[in-house]
Amino acid sequence: MSSTTSATTTSLTMDKPIKDSILDHTVQEVLGKPLDRIDGPVKVSGAATYAAEFAFDDLTYGYLVRADYGAGTIEAIDATEALAMPGVIDVVHDFEGFIRNAAQGGETEGPTQGVQEIAYFGQPIAIVVAESYEIARDAALRVRVQVIPKLGDFSVEGRQGEAFKPADASAPAHAATGDLEQAMLDADVTLDQSYTTPSQNSAAMEPHASTAQWDGDRLTIHGSYQMLASDRLQLADTLGMDPKDVRIVALYVGGGFGSKLGIAPEVVAAALAAKKIGRPVKTVMTRPQVFEATVRRSNTSQRIRLAAGADGRLIGIGHETLCSNLDGEEYFEPAGIATHFLYPGDHRLVTHDIIPVNRTLSGSMRAPGEAVGMLALENAMDELAEKLGIDPVELRRRNEPAQDPSKAIPYSSRKLQDCLDAGAKSFGWDQRNATPGAMRDGEWLIGHGMAASTRSNILKPSRARVSLTPEGRAIVETDQTDIGTGSYTILGQIAAEMLGLPLDQVDVKLGDTDFPPAAGSGGSWGAGSSGSSIYLACEGLRAKLARAMDTHEGSLTLKDGRAIAGNRAVPLADLVGEGLAQEGAIEPGETSEAVSQASYGTHFCEVRVNAVTGEVRVARWVSAFAAGRILNEKTARSQCIGGIVFGIGSALTEELIHDDRTGKCVNRDLGEYHVPVHADVPPIEVIFVEERDVSANPLQAKGIGELGISGAGAAVTNAIYNATGVRVRSYPMTCDKLL
Ligand code: MOS
Repeated sequence: MSSTTSATTTSLTMDKPIKDSILDHTVQEVLGKPLDRIDGPVKVSGAATYAAEFAFDDLTYGYLVRADYGAGTIEAIDATEALAMPGVIDVVHDFEGFIRNAAQGGETEGPTQGVQEIAYFGQPIAIVVAESYEIARDAALRVRVQVIPKLGDFSVEGRQGEAFKPADASAPAHAATGDLEQAMLDADVTLDQSYTTPSQNSAAMEPHASTAQWDGDRLTIHGSYQMLASDRLQLADTLGMDPKDVRIVALYVGGGFGSKLGIAPEVVAAALAAKKIGRPVKTVMTRPQVFEATVRRSNTSQRIRLAAGADGRLIGIGHETLCSNLDGEEYFEPAGIATHFLYPGDHRLVTHDIIPVNRTLSGSMRAPGEAVGMLALENAMDELAEKLGIDPVELRRRNEPAQDPSKAIPYSSRKLQDCLDAGAKSFGWDQRNATPGAMRDGEWLIGHGMAASTRSNILKPSRARVSLTPEGRAIVETDQTDIGTGSYTILGQIAAEMLGLPLDQVDVKLGDTDFPPAAGSGGSWGAGSSGSSIYLACEGLRAKLARAMDTHEGSLTLKDGRAIAGNRAVPLADLVGEGLAQEGAIEPGETSEAVSQASYGTHFCEVRVNAVTGEVRVARWVSAFAAGRILNEKTARSQCIGGIVFGIGSALTEELIHDDRTGKCVNRDLGEYHVPVHADVPPIEVIFVEERDVSANPLQAKGIGELGISGAGAAVTNAIYNATGVRVRSYPMTCDKLL
């Protein structure tokens, strides 16, 4: 192995592919199995403690006071009436820096003298602390805020000229190769269309919540986060503290979808208030506050240009995105991120520009970039297929690049063609009628649509500790989170497989910054990164066990709690003495940059569109995915299904609406912001195409959390076109746009 082992840490930098994974030789047969979540029973029985459910002596309740203007200058905050109410402890408003920058994971500006300029409607400007939640909420309404209103930039309509060019981030902001204009002139067939997508909200089931407790100068937060190690740095930075003095605990997280990557307003307010009053403060954001004052996915306007030969082969691709954010913010929705590598073409232009607007901070939401970028790109590919008279699956077959066309480097592994085959076959795509409106069942028009899916694979530095107890049990410790994805289970499975233990002999402890820092749950890198750190820790333990058995690792078999070498089988408990502990540390290296790494897939669906009302029902769904080694077939499938449901929402219902006159978010709850419910979702078939990606990590597994949503919505809208002959380019495709 290319890893290096010290007495306590096994480290690996991905400088070369891992062609021989230990997991190909282990015999416990627990990894990959569709096992139930090990945290399932405590969750469904209500025993799992979420951020707002920890008990403290002397607990107080915080409630955020929001700005009632979309833009303006605060002249004064009068808390006299609120403070006079029985049960009110304090009103704190000397914070600011976190409100805008912190949620993006960027630099924060540190605490200041309070909010002076209101940047968006609903911006938190103070926190009321009281003996009960109800008193705090009541008092918050009685805090008088004197504001000089300003004429804000609330609308994005017609403001292309005011966009600014941001710096590169997760994707290049602006990238051009060849000459797209010339390619458009030279091509046999071209397409030039614009698509719009609205603002969206992650709408995680658990709202953002934090309980802050001080012990002298040390702060403990029970919160709801995706990436504890970086959240700790952000919070410490915002509060002007040493990160060592900040502990964050997030044992269970009720969904994040990007909105909990960074810290949100409630935690800084709770921390400062708790410090000031000398008692723990719990602050749970209300659903409207989550919608108004955490992060939104930006609205986008995307111009797609495709230049193809008569054979359908692309020679040029343009993908120019306009999105929005608060003035001065650099985060852009990287809608063109997949356009860099999905299809061939020598002439390419991918740009992102930001229109400054007085609306909630925009940030990452599940599959930042691909989720809405592929709504446009894959819709455009469907339009191109029709212009060419080529089947949409065949068009994608003809556009398989030999290498990454933007970076001119090889793909690590790319099984898009296999996913096209597997999905088309199971769906019965060859039965499709390509003529729009040709399939009908009474007043229901029937359509079939498909789209490709891809999501970049990323490796992040991650650490974990695995211990073997004198009883022969394993304990896994890392500050990785489980945001509902199955991290507890798959990390336990990796340790069990590597150490030859039944899964119930492994205790998995996550979500506490007292444990070694992990990559966190973001960007679909959680399983690959934190799983690899556990693999490495176990690799070190295997070497120690081999030594204890007087053999070398290659001759050691671990199974059912026993170490087997030659004709000897010894229980682990007899080998570990007072216990063994090993840390594992993974980090990206040369290999991570030398190849183009992504997971791939395809979506196929059938919709029924009511010819009288325009109502759309998604009737049937098949997706095929290739994401390297699948660590747990059940939790992986659930990730894919969840993503597809998200995709159906983005196609048909999800739209966060801001009033163009005031900047106020007008659909701030789940009654008005429509996510799909069970009745909106058909049975979904998910096929996994066998794959190992030796360049990804020692697990040879790639990210899956954001693969399902990527492209899914375009399959729906392409099916709607096939059903109706109506090509709607403004998402979501509500029925008014179809009639
Ligand atoms: Mo994801 S938007 O990186 O949680």
